[in-house]
Amino acid sequence: MKKVYIGMSTDVIHHGHIKIIEKARQLGEVTVGLLTDKAIASFKRLPLLSYEQRKKIIENIKGVKNVVPQETLDYIPNMKKLKPDYVVHGTDWREGIQKKTRERVIEALKGWNGKLVEPEYTKGISSTQIINDMLEIGTTPQIRLKKLRKLLELKPLVRILEVHNGLTGRIVEKTKVVNGEEVREFDGMWQSSLTDSTSKGKPDIELVDLTSRLQTIDQIFEVTTKPMLVDGDSGGLTEHFVYTVKTLERLGVSAVIIEDKIGPKRNSLFGTDVRQQQDTIENFSRKISEGKKAQVTEDFMIIARIESLILKNGVKDALTRAKAYIKAGADGIMIHSKEKDPKEILDFCREYKKLKDKVPLVAVPTTYNSIAEEDLIKAGVKIVIYANHLLRSAYPAMVKTAESILKNHRCLEADKLCLPVSEILTLIPGGK
Ligand code: SPV
Ligand code: MG
Repeated sequence: MKKVYIGMSTDVIHHGHIKIIEKARQLGEVTVGLLTDKAIASFKRLPLLSYEQRKKIIENIKGVKNVVPQETLDYIPNMKKLKPDYVVHGTDWREGIQKKTRERVIEALKGWNGKLVEPEYTKGISSTQIINDMLEIGTTPQIRLKKLRKLLELKPLVRILEVHNGLTGRIVEKTKVVNGEEVREFDGMWQSSLTDSTSKGKPDIELVDLTSRLQTIDQIFEVTTKPMLVDGDSGGLTEHFVYTVKTLERLGVSAVIIEDKIGPKRNSLFGTDVRQQQDTIENFSRKISEGKKAQVTEDFMIIARIESLILKNGVKDALTRAKAYIKAGADGIMIHSKEKDPKEILDFCREYKKLKDKVPLVAVPTTYNSIAEEDLIKAGVKIVIYANHLLRSAYPAMVKTAESILKNHRCLEADKLCLPVSEILTLIPGGK
């Protein structure tokens, strides 16, 4: 019996895949290299079904003899083990991003006189298209809520961008950059108190109240499916925070981040330029533990944000607090800094790594913005939040346009600064 290998990443089976398997089983005994959850998450998105669930489906398809994990996009390690007589793949990979993978497969097959067999690609259907169609239908609070923990499990770094309305939600949902075989996108949204307040023309002092924040969250949830972390400011009084937890959880928010400050909250990026006071460890720990008791599901996360570096209280104080907050039940630690140099954050990360009981670490590189995601991963950071960039980039563009109209007494000159009318009309589907 000849040995046949197929690499598959899919979790949505369609007739295109069946055609490939049919062809393969005519050639011999079929082994499917099924991409692991981590592999899919690394270059695409979260798989809809887990590896075990997908394995169950694939191994029950007629003609499939074995299902083995394929840990990366690279076929070669599995091929070297199996030495298949045939590899079967649709003709689609002759062009585009998979071209190089194909060349490597052909090269490897030469090592044992194996052959590549390429049935005609089935047009008009793809898993990505099916998944995109499903995402357009929407999601449910429970499904959205769980996504953050899943991302933390499967990705080396969870990448989050700020949102403050439906449109920015759509930008996080849809923006993709293709880099070789990898499709890079944001994993979720940060509902920032700074940008939510600023977009309403209000200062970031806990003035935009929870009712207003909830309305904004609801608007964003109407048009997105990605998970959200909410900036919970100080969390308010513990007696109030327990209600906030339940409300956010019910809506499908994945995590709330609360900062260990009291009194009139001022934005962290003011640092010591304004009077800001840190809460006591005892008080804040109690807020965390009461919040944890209030949540209904296992999935919701309460992340404790440490302001010691912002208030110049040093890495040692930050670490003491991290230990206490983790003990109180925090599901994550956010360490914040307003230094231009990432040094103090990296100092903290180095010490944090040594802790026995750790939870995922969150960083917000607004001021120490030279740091790259690869460096954050090395430092042990699990979530990076780009906390205000959509609003900060939109504002100068809007002011420029307003000034242009004033200067020129007309809007002709402003037009080149604007999205074409034809595009704004169709930016949001369903308008026609
Ligand atoms: C926010 O985005 O509102 C934050 C982060 O809390 S920061 O503005 O850096 O304090
Ligand atoms: Mg804030």
